[in-house]
Amino acid sequence: MKKVVLAFLLLSILLVTCSCGGNTTKKQSDLSDLQSIQSAANSSLSSSSEISSSTVSSQSAVSSKQQSSSENAAADANATVNNVKSENKNIKYINGILIVNKTYGLPKDYNPGVDPTALSAAKKMFADAAKEGLDLYISSSFRSYSRQNTLYNNYAAQDGKAAADRYSARPGYSEHQTGLAFDLNSVDSSFENTKECAWVAKNCYKYGFIIRYPKGKESITGYMYEPWHIRYLGVDNAKMIYNSGKTIEEYFNITSSYAN
Ligand code: DAL
Ligand code: ZN
Repeated sequence: MKKVVLAFLLLSILLVTCSCGGNTTKKQSDLSDLQSIQSAANSSLSSSSEISSSTVSSQSAVSSKQQSSSENAAADANATVNNVKSENKNIKYINGILIVNKTYGLPKDYNPGVDPTALSAAKKMFADAAKEGLDLYISSSFRSYSRQNTLYNNYAAQDGKAAADRYSARPGYSEHQTGLAFDLNSVDSSFENTKECAWVAKNCYKYGFIIRYPKGKESITGYMYEPWHIRYLGVDNAKMIYNSGKTIEEYFNITSSYAN
């Protein structure tokens, strides 16, 4: 009987030891499972942050697309070129060029200020001209709708509407409202016979500008010769227009005339 009790005791001790060992192994495996879970959790966390960030970018891609489809290309290009968003669908762009003339106007609230890229280009041009002893400066740059309204009304009161229309844009129809046009030096016929005038005519396209209202093109552009008025188009477009020898209106086959 003693032998039986002893055997029973031995068996119990064995069983308890095995079960403890098993437990330890299980704990270790639990731990590594936990670590796996944690690392899985971490990786799923990072996946979920990737997902949420890619969702955000898809959302912005979607909203940009929605914007593109809900607004016209003009407004998109406007945002790019002038850093101004406009809801107006009537702004005219051709090949990324903002078109403003007597046919294509701008809304009253289109108020971008001077375009910084155009301004930098002008400064670079002035610096290069200065190296040749020439003095170029901006005498008029961005003009708001309201400023143009005042100017035009003064000219119309002074010279009559028909005469004013030959040299001053009606409010909403001035390139100066784009922030992409500058008048240089003396805004009168005295500029025509200066070295600066000849230099600008010959070189401004290299900086992204064109002489917007060339001599002999009034019936096409709608304005008398303005050698001082330069319009920024960017270097590629300015070169293209300059090399064609055409005005914007001729190049793109568009009109420049008021509806009334
Ligand atoms: N002098 C130009 C045409 C303007 O008023 O915008
Ligand atoms: Zn001008």
